[in-house]
Amino acid sequence: MSARMIDGKSLATRLRSELTARVARFREETGVQPHLAAVLVGEDPASAVYVKNKQLDCTKAGILSTLHRFPTTLTTAELLDHVQKLNADPTVHGILVQLPLPKQIDELRILDAVLPVKDVDCFHPENVGLMVQGRPRFLPCTPAGCQELLKDAGVKTEGAHAVVLGRSDIVGKPMASLLIQKGGVADATVTICHSRTKNIAEITRQADILVAAIGKPNFVTADMVKPGVVVIDVGINRVGDRLVGDVDFDAVKEIASAITPVPGGVGPMTRALLLENTLRAAELQTARAKA
Ligand code: GUN
Repeated sequence: MSARMIDGKSLATRLRSELTARVARFREETGVQPHLAAVLVGEDPASAVYVKNKQLDCTKAGILSTLHRFPTTLTTAELLDHVQKLNADPTVHGILVQLPLPKQIDELRILDAVLPVKDVDCFHPENVGLMVQGRPRFLPCTPAGCQELLKDAGVKTEGAHAVVLGRSDIVGKPMASLLIQKGGVADATVTICHSRTKNIAEITRQADILVAAIGKPNFVTADMVKPGVVVIDVGINRVGDRLVGDVDFDAVKEIASAITPVPGGVGPMTRALLLENTLRAAELQTARAKA
């Protein structure tokens, strides 16, 4: 048996087209164009491509996007200064600081400095806290994108055992938090595995839903999953000139009931959710004229 493909590319296209219509309506009603400021520090080629794609998505959706580019040698103080300027600029609704930042920059200080209502990545502790408590201001882009994929694929999460591989602040922790919420694409029983977990395969074999976000190419092998599992592969790893996920796709697809490909699975959904958050940020910061 071969698993059903969960097509993130086509779902993201659908979401983007709905969002484009909502952006147009918002602009008509308020006269305000949502604006995402993307901050890119250094010369990492992968980061440059990610940011360029995010900007392209914005333009297509009717969202203004500006690029704020800085040399690798930038200091924490200089970047803080720029973030404060973007915070104070009323025409900027969303601020995205592309990670990773160069080593000398204090990443947490920078992310903490982003005004919470402009924090479209949902990295600020205030927004993380609200999300964990089940009253989100923004949803974290990648985990929320995974939920949308599960919803669209008709996967029942209620009572399911979801195993999350990875404990990063960007994916693992917020993914687990979302899946244990009450209602929606949630109500799952969640286990988080990480680099210090013993007998990982024993745990992953119990998963009804497996979210792999561990950053190791082809980490999840066929012997680590049970028949019928739904696999969401968050990994993007460069192996030679190929992009591969955290899951050994060719082997695991023979055992799973549904699986996301890499590329074309989670990646496009992360970008779609960023647009959603940018529109939401603009809505939060703009008083709509009453009809
Ligand atoms: N680097 C890798 N993923 C992300 C993301 O979702 N947001 C930001 N800002 N940087 C990233």
